[in-house]
Amino acid sequence: MDSIQLDRSGIMKLTVFLLVLLFLQQQSEAQSSCGDRVSFSGGRSYGSCARLPYLDATLFWSYHPSNGTLDVAYRAPQSANGWVAWAINPTGRGMVGANSFLAYPDAATGSATVITTQLRTYDVTPSDIRDEELTFAVYRREAEYSGADGYFTIYASVELPGNRTTQNTVWQEATTFAGGVPYGHPLDHDHLSSLASLDFLTGELA
Ligand SMILES: *[C@@H]1O[C@H](CO)[C@@H](O)[C@H](O)[C@H]1NC(C)=O
Ligand SMILES: *[C@@H]1O[C@H](CO)[C@@H](O)[C@H](O)[C@H]1NC(C)=O
Repeated sequence: MDSIQLDRSGIMKLTVFLLVLLFLQQQSEAQSSCGDRVSFSGGRSYGSCARLPYLDATLFWSYHPSNGTLDVAYRAPQSANGWVAWAINPTGRGMVGANSFLAYPDAATGSATVITTQLRTYDVTPSDIRDEELTFAVYRREAEYSGADGYFTIYASVELPGNRTTQNTVWQEATTFAGGVPYGHPLDHDHLSSLASLDFLTGELA
């Protein structure tokens, strides 16, 4: 009897050990899929994330199938006097048609602010960059800058256009402004390649 009990407890220990190993492996996969572990203000948390292929940006999100909405946190490195942008383009792939969230330091207060604007042409003028409604509903938006690690975060809750889980997304960053609003960006390879189709249901990036 004693030897059987020992065997049983041995099996138990082995099982616990294997479960812990499996758990640790999954934890490290969750971390490595989006780089460093990040915490968000206001107790926000997200079920999914993807490292975007350019500009060191990461997108965190939760998709709610019941009402076709998406909560996102777009996080990207930038100096305190620069800007970052994240957009969904419901009608095309790149800048033209991009329904954008732009985060930058407010000229008057210096604290991070966010506006939404539609980019309708490549020949944007500074007056085109104004706070306006997007072609889909925006339920919440907020921006913050973390000076400690030099990141902007854009928080947004939106209706997914057409209730489609796969959307064309575009993102951008620069340190140039005109009339107090973000204006212009570098035209190098990375700044012209920062677009991807993203399936918010599966996390597949293409
Ligand atoms: C959509 O559903 C989610 C999950 O139930 C909820 O948290 C969120 O507030 C809803 N959004 C809107 C705009 O109703
Ligand atoms: C969006 O699509 C989901 C999944 O197909 C569906 O359950 C939901 O009812 C749709 N929501 C709206 C607002 O059309």
